[in-house]
Amino acid sequence: MNRSMQKRVYIETYGCQMNEHDSEQILRLLQRSNYLETEDAQEADLILVNTCSVREKPEQKVYSALGRFKGLKEERGTIIGVAGCVAQQEGQRLLARIPYLDMVIGTHAIALIPQMLERVEVIGEKVCETGFDTEGKHLDAFLPQGQVSVVKSYVTIMQGCNHFCSYCIVPYVRGRERSRPSQEIVDEVSHLAQRGVKEICLLGQNVNSYGKGLKEEIRFPELLSRLDEIEGVERIRFTTSHPKDLSEELIQAHGGLKKLCEHIHLPFQSGSNGILKAMNRGYTRESYLEKIDRLREVCPSIAITSDVIAGFPGEQEKDFEETLDLMEKVRFDDLFSFKYSPRKGTRAAEISDQVEEQMKQERLALLQKIQKEITLQKNQALEGCIEEVLVEGYSKQTEQDVTGRTRTHKTVNFEGDLESTGKIVPVRIVKAYPHSLRGEILTD
Ligand code: 5AD
Ligand code: SF4
Repeated sequence: MNRSMQKRVYIETYGCQMNEHDSEQILRLLQRSNYLETEDAQEADLILVNTCSVREKPEQKVYSALGRFKGLKEERGTIIGVAGCVAQQEGQRLLARIPYLDMVIGTHAIALIPQMLERVEVIGEKVCETGFDTEGKHLDAFLPQGQVSVVKSYVTIMQGCNHFCSYCIVPYVRGRERSRPSQEIVDEVSHLAQRGVKEICLLGQNVNSYGKGLKEEIRFPELLSRLDEIEGVERIRFTTSHPKDLSEELIQAHGGLKKLCEHIHLPFQSGSNGILKAMNRGYTRESYLEKIDRLREVCPSIAITSDVIAGFPGEQEKDFEETLDLMEKVRFDDLFSFKYSPRKGTRAAEISDQVEEQMKQERLALLQKIQKEITLQKNQALEGCIEEVLVEGYSKQTEQDVTGRTRTHKTVNFEGDLESTGKIVPVRIVKAYPHSLRGEILTD
């Protein structure tokens, strides 16, 4: 591990034993993301205040604790977060009241801290997670090895990125690409499968580059074939892949490997060739569309999701229209859209022709509106179909329903009990919504 990428976290805990315990869990989790604890807030890259509201005026305490760190934010850009009961209770209000706060981590969101941090670092967003855990995410991160089983698990196969897209901070904060040896990954996945995990999602900034720089000769499609053979694993997914590096072998894998799910997340970022060039993405709209055609040829039922950025510097109306046009052509199953945010140290942040905030907002709103309609239509097309659903547990809304995902990564809620958790069951889709599907389990 590259020590220069090692970061420091300073954590201040108020309140009860429970909170002390949570802080320990947070530290353990952050160690996996290459953070070391420090007792000196001055040298920290991340400061967390873990609070308890049992005592009187806990909010006041949070405000005064945070006040001490305001200067550090200004001087060093330290990321600042609040966790614990006050975070849970106050949620967005904390972000609104404390302008230099980056993260509000509710009591059920501890396991999401690495993803939240990534959003703060990469997109420069403020994040707040105060929802109640229903997908076992919280549990997943802390399960004592070898005990209870969970349905799905994430396995990091590589870290860092060599691409240097001009808007992106990842290569600077995560460093160059480093892949894990394949045997280590195979062992981890086998171990998870023995504990009852049914679905594995392989993580990396650009999984297509997997294997480069390793002593062994292995590429991503081959890793997938090895994992496909592991007994007990029912489904394999991965995220994220870069369109430039999406190889024919990986496309073929979607037609050939039985556990590899019919879903790919393939960020396009912009539909305009001029903007793609300025972003240093290394592909054109035409070559992106060709890859989509090829994927659909090999695997007709594949679901395709993507990322897009609105308002990259220099984006003119016609560039934006090309983005909308690409969306209409591909008709993504789902789309994660971001307003361009200048990240200090990246090349795009230096471009003088920045798009005005209001324009960025309008473009973002328009593409979200268009995509919402497309996603709904895609979901409606599934009404009446029978889908294989891997049941994950109770649904968010009610304990009468369970929830799970199709192989194409769509959420399906249906009446059922927890006994079906971890099983793949046939479900008829009866109603489509913008973000989920309603189904009925087939019993015979
Ligand atoms: N501004 C807006 N969106 C960004 N992303 C990465 N960096 C930025 C930025 N500076 C988005 C990209 C990427 C996703 C994870 O975050 O769409 O695919
Ligand atoms: Fe960032 Fe992804 Fe580009 Fe790497 S490939 S620089 S992680 S956007």
